[in-house]
Amino acid sequence: MTKCLSRRLMLASLATFAMAPVLLPQPTLAQAWPTRQITLIVPFAAGGPSDVIARLLGSKMGETLGQQIIIENVAGAGGTIAASRVAKAPADGYTLLIHHVALPLGAALYKNLSYDTASAFETLGLVNYGPYVLTTKLGYPAATPKELFESFRLNSDKVTFAHAGIGSGSHLCGIMLMQTIGFKGNFVAYRGTGPALNDIVAGQVEVLCDQTTNTFPQIEAKTIKAFAITSPQRNPRFPDMPTTAELGFPQIDTTVWHALYAPKGMPAEAAAKVHAALQKALDDKVVQERFTELGTLMFDPAQRTRKAHEDKLNAELARMKALAESAGIAGTN
Ligand code: MLT
Repeated sequence: MTKCLSRRLMLASLATFAMAPVLLPQPTLAQAWPTRQITLIVPFAAGGPSDVIARLLGSKMGETLGQQIIIENVAGAGGTIAASRVAKAPADGYTLLIHHVALPLGAALYKNLSYDTASAFETLGLVNYGPYVLTTKLGYPAATPKELFESFRLNSDKVTFAHAGIGSGSHLCGIMLMQTIGFKGNFVAYRGTGPALNDIVAGQVEVLCDQTTNTFPQIEAKTIKAFAITSPQRNPRFPDMPTTAELGFPQIDTTVWHALYAPKGMPAEAAAKVHAALQKALDDKVVQERFTELGTLMFDPAQRTRKAHEDKLNAELARMKALAESAGIAGTN
């Protein structure tokens, strides 16, 4: 071996040795994740639709990840308090967020958010989607959708309309109804539709437009009245319930879609593990049966990638901005 070659070999092995401690710990750390419990933040009150979906997924995903996923309800300001908390949390994979259509709607309605919705989060995958049901307390003086809409017009701002905070899905449904039917409504804000629905059942408030996840069990138990579903087709579970489109209001098109997020910058390996655990949970028969019972739907396999989630968020940011502008409520909070 020449002197020059042996010197080059020596330098190369020294370089490898010098780099080794820098390169090795990275994958080792990421592979070890998760070493402790993970917190899944729910932006609305316990007992509501987002909470029900989070608990169902959290327990299945925790089994796959080998660590407990604990649910923390951080309600308020239409889901923006929870989003802000997660945007600022350490990007270490131990804080996750489940959110829905209220995440892009909040971006359109609130002018001073402490985070930029399009760039603050890792998109970890779409979860479920589904329609809303227009419901009232049992004693509400209307027997048909026609009578209900007529009562809205006649009583306008006297009708008490429950929702889960400015920018929530139930608020969005209320805005669409008011715009389409032409009444004002007296909005009553709750920390989630779990407590709002309890007050509908108790007769404390009159109207609520909420996800099937929450309303179907109460409609079945006959504790509330249901007038219309916001999906294009009727639901086989309640075949007599008309759609808003059939009633002449195709523009009342509210669809909730839940998805999982984490603070931007989460280690790639941890994000991949969360995404994979979510897919496993969604493929689980028990989860699928529960989704069907709750009247909520699974996304097609092609829409279950992280990229499809990112595209959906961006499309919904644009759609909600346009909707808020047309309703004259963009940036009003
Ligand atoms: C909830 O979980 O309480 C609902 O998803 C809130 C809403 O109406 O958006």
